[in-house]
Amino acid sequence: MSNQHVSMQGMWSSRAVFVMAAVGSAVGLGNIWKFPYITGEYGGGAFVAVYLACIALIGIPIMMAEILLGRRGRASPIITMRTLAREEGASPAWSVVGYSGVVAGFLILSFYSVIAGWALAYVFQTASGGLNQVSAEGAASLFGDLVGSPGQLMVWHSVFMLMTVVVVARGVRYGIERAVTILMPLLFVMLVIMVAYAAVEGDFARGFDFLFNTDFARVFQLCTGPAEDLQCSFSGEPLLVAMGHAFFTLSLGMGAIMAYGAYVPEHASITGATITIALADTVVALLAGLAIFPIVFASGLEPSAGPGLIFQTLPIAFGNMPGGQWFGTVFFLLLVFAAWSSSISIAEPAVAWLVESRRWRRSVAAVMVGGLAWFIGIGSVLSFNYWSGEEYQLFGKTLFDLKDFLASNIMLPLGGLLIALFVAFGAGRRMALEELAISRQRLFDAWWFVIRYVSPLGIAIVFLNSIGVF
Ligand code: PHE
Repeated sequence: MSNQHVSMQGMWSSRAVFVMAAVGSAVGLGNIWKFPYITGEYGGGAFVAVYLACIALIGIPIMMAEILLGRRGRASPIITMRTLAREEGASPAWSVVGYSGVVAGFLILSFYSVIAGWALAYVFQTASGGLNQVSAEGAASLFGDLVGSPGQLMVWHSVFMLMTVVVVARGVRYGIERAVTILMPLLFVMLVIMVAYAAVEGDFARGFDFLFNTDFARVFQLCTGPAEDLQCSFSGEPLLVAMGHAFFTLSLGMGAIMAYGAYVPEHASITGATITIALADTVVALLAGLAIFPIVFASGLEPSAGPGLIFQTLPIAFGNMPGGQWFGTVFFLLLVFAAWSSSISIAEPAVAWLVESRRWRRSVAAVMVGGLAWFIGIGSVLSFNYWSGEEYQLFGKTLFDLKDFLASNIMLPLGGLLIALFVAFGAGRRMALEELAISRQRLFDAWWFVIRYVSPLGIAIVFLNSIGVF
């Protein structure tokens, strides 16, 4: 390998630590909060099938590309893209990938922190016995009370942003490593227990069927309304959202994984790491779905309840299962932790860039980035109360929905498209061959074909379909 760059921010102590940190970044609210709620909104099985196809054909190859670029450039995504473009004789304009990633990061962090704040609030709600014996209506009204109160949301949003800033200021490598190694497996075990509970107490057959029964007619339709009176119309939106979510859940398209890639040791296998990260992420999302939908159906709730879905269903389980008070408390704590290990990676591209290019101290950069995201986040807080009305909506979406839509479904896939194009056409085969160092030629050739043609065309087709070209 001919890597002459050295990262200013240090290195992961081993490949395993990188994998853990990347799993920490990937596994978060996207898996446990967002995946179930958008699957519910977009009709279940067919949506899940498209999402899984996007993970395999677009997500995994692009994750390999992001890690290899990061390790090659050993800097923040903006600087990495600029340096590598120069070295490979391509236009410095490729650094736009880095800039758009920083913007997307601000948008994402500004709503991520608000939702993580909900999880924080539920840690205390559960611990204090507030969910004991709660009914479906009771759980819905508790959630309504929380999101209806801008004051409470602001407090939790602020606490979570502060937590993020503290870790980012110290450098993502310190502290988080050990915590991720213990807490992530624990979250996994608790999810398995939740699935077992859902299997016994919920309507498991219906939940399972909803997640895995693929009615492809639904992929191109947007259906609204209650199950008995479903209104469906043709739309490219479900496809776009499924693809956007594949990027969001794997932390791709905005440089988070590229930034982490900059700290990967020289001889670590990128392919192996990628497969592990993607597998862990997918399994957690599917487990979350299997834990939630049986409860949704058993309690007569609508799968399309929206962003509040898990906060209206899991409390029913915690409130009524033996030992649910402490089990639920630990579960929400772990959810906060999963969100925490993701939010620090969302801030990393911006912070690393400020440190490198402006020579700011890490702590100053972290406070500035967190502060700005916190401020933009006020709009997300108000989207659930003062600004929830139609007069504050655009295209039927609140500010919160708009930020999520723009970042996850447009900016991340666009970033991913550019990353694939840069690796495949801007830089070229030699760089990828050197950096990936895959010993089996066939495997490299397969990846090369996918990153050159399959992933970019896939993204382009979904984009064109969503604007109605076909
Ligand atoms: N992947 C994280 C999740 O699923 C969110 C995230 C998005 C993290 C983009 C980094 C970059 O919760």
